[in-house]
Amino acid sequence: MTDHFDGGDLKTSAKLVILEEYLDVYTTIMDSNWRQDKWYVDTHSGTGRTVIDDNGVTIDGSAIIALENHQDSFDRFYFYELSEAHFHKLHETISDRLGLEFDVSPAGVEGEDFLVARCDDPYIRVMQMDSNRGVSFLADVNTSSHWFTFVDPKGLTAKKSTLDTLIGRSNMDILINYQTTGVLRSAAEGAEHAHGAVERTMGDSDWPNAASADEYVNLYKEKLEENPEIRPVKTKALVSPHDARHRFDLAFTCENKTARGIMEDIMNQERLWEKANERIGQSGLGSFG
Ligand SMILES: C[S@@+](CC[C@H](N)C(=O)[O-])C[C@H]1O[C@@H](n2cnc3c(N)ncnc32)[C@H](O)[C@@H]1O
Repeated sequence: MTDHFDGGDLKTSAKLVILEEYLDVYTTIMDSNWRQDKWYVDTHSGTGRTVIDDNGVTIDGSAIIALENHQDSFDRFYFYELSEAHFHKLHETISDRLGLEFDVSPAGVEGEDFLVARCDDPYIRVMQMDSNRGVSFLADVNTSSHWFTFVDPKGLTAKKSTLDTLIGRSNMDILINYQTTGVLRSAAEGAEHAHGAVERTMGDSDWPNAASADEYVNLYKEKLEENPEIRPVKTKALVSPHDARHRFDLAFTCENKTARGIMEDIMNQERLWEKANERIGQSGLGSFG
């Protein structure tokens, strides 16, 4: 049997605190202001839960958080997961946790052979495919719903062109996990084999080989902000105290100024690390500033 996605640490937990708190705000605002459908779209869904390597605790991941807390607010949930093993673990985990049944079968679309797990109440589609293709297609066929989209890769698998498609669609808040250390290492001289991945992540070949983490994040932010309606993009660096060698940054794009301000407050709240520690079953006291 496949295990849950592993490699989690305190910053994984902090990321999920931010996701969960913003989803509470998003659904509250949208429930009273948006008359049309709301969709939750997760481009890198994982297995539903994540193992924290430091202490072996397993915590709920984005899919379970969104479904358990906001089944009544979102009209549809779309989960993309490329790995077949993770795909099966995900729909089984959702099934166990929420008591739902999925019909799992090939997509039935000509020229496509990916698997889909379908549940109609609530409306959930788990798609075993590359989300770059999947969400770009979805954005083309659906323009009327408002989406909250979570882009949470591990590695350089979220293409900037996909993000441009999503931002260009409009009616969408996007929380992106930008792989800062991954970009920094892959952009280096001597890592030419990885430069293509950096190019796909940054959207072009206009980036330096030896910049600092902050410089790569600012450059990415500037490139996202070439889409003027989502300026300014809010970012937050996340680095675990036990492994300062690895950093990712959350980047948030949204057309609404008030929502951007709320996200900024959530990202920069004083109790973030304390809450992240609590989520993984550790006392937050004294472990991180
Ligand atoms: C960091 S994990 C996701 C964790 C999840 N968001 C959570 O909170 O539990 C990244 C997942 O993305 C999947 N993945 C990698 N490339 C992908 C792609 N192009 N499209 C969809 N899924 C992908 C991996 O198999 C892995 O399960």
